[in-house]
Amino acid sequence: MTITYNFEGRTVLVTGAAQGIGKALAEFFVASAARVVVADRDATLLNDEWGGGNDNVLPLEVDVADRTSVDNAIAAVVAKWGSIDVVVNNAGIARDSVVWKLTDEQWDSVLAVHLTGTFNVTRAAVPHMRSSGFGRIVNVTSYTGMHGNIGQSNYAAAKGGIIAFTKSVAKETARFGITANAISPNAATAMVAAVPAEKLAEMTATVPQGRFADPSEMAAAVAFLASDEAAYITGVVLPVDGGVSM
Ligand SMILES: NC(=O)c1ccc[n+]([C@@H]2O[C@H](COP(=O)([O-])OP(=O)(O)OC[C@H]3O[C@@H](n4cnc5c(N)ncnc54)[C@H](O)[C@@H]3O)[C@@H](O)[C@H]2O)c1
Repeated sequence: MTITYNFEGRTVLVTGAAQGIGKALAEFFVASAARVVVADRDATLLNDEWGGGNDNVLPLEVDVADRTSVDNAIAAVVAKWGSIDVVVNNAGIARDSVVWKLTDEQWDSVLAVHLTGTFNVTRAAVPHMRSSGFGRIVNVTSYTGMHGNIGQSNYAAAKGGIIAFTKSVAKETARFGITANAISPNAATAMVAAVPAEKLAEMTATVPQGRFADPSEMAAAVAFLASDEAAYITGVVLPVDGGVSM
């Protein structure tokens, strides 16, 4: 079997695609001939990065935490391209604090973007995937969602929730030609750059490969999980982390 990762004819939605991992994934899908919806709530950055007028790229200002925004976006994609075949739930934020200092806003916003956002997009996309008999859902979780982290109880709860959500959706949709999987990345992005230098050095020291990945290195795993050939793989969490989770 030759695996080409040719996504011609596929419509792919990547959330949080204005920068970091999401942008790198969207660039991969564009290069692989897909029709790509780049969704982000940062309209300025989205326009700066994706305003070039490529016919196969649809930039959409979407707040994944906002159900109306998501439902409108999915409807616009299906109206334009007729299907939604691959969804990458990648949008994310961090609002770190130890639990006894965590504000309602820090808790609510992190849960809303990661967990509710992943639900909002998935719920809106699955009916279209069921209609076409094909779907690939790739959710972006984290090592923290499996092991916890100091100062990140909100983020850990959201990312752990995404894993449980992914497995449930995988079971619910398995009969319809749809798979749902997750990746657990480790990549040098703005989110990581915001970590204090001393803490970042500690984190880097836990990576057996001794470095954070370039965001583009996440594409191989997402392409694999989104491919036609990965039809029999569902409900897994694939670490793309230089060995951190060993
Ligand atoms: N970078 C890592 O090492 C790492 C590790 C584990 C998990 N992750 C996860 O990977 C994903 C991408 O992270 P990144 O490092 O590229 O972060 P990033 O901060 O570089 O990019 C996140 C993007 O998401 C967008 N976004 C935030 N809230 C949104 C919303 N409500 N609606 C739509 N878009 C929104 C931002 O505008 C931004 O463009 C996140 O889910 C993050 O939790 C990253």
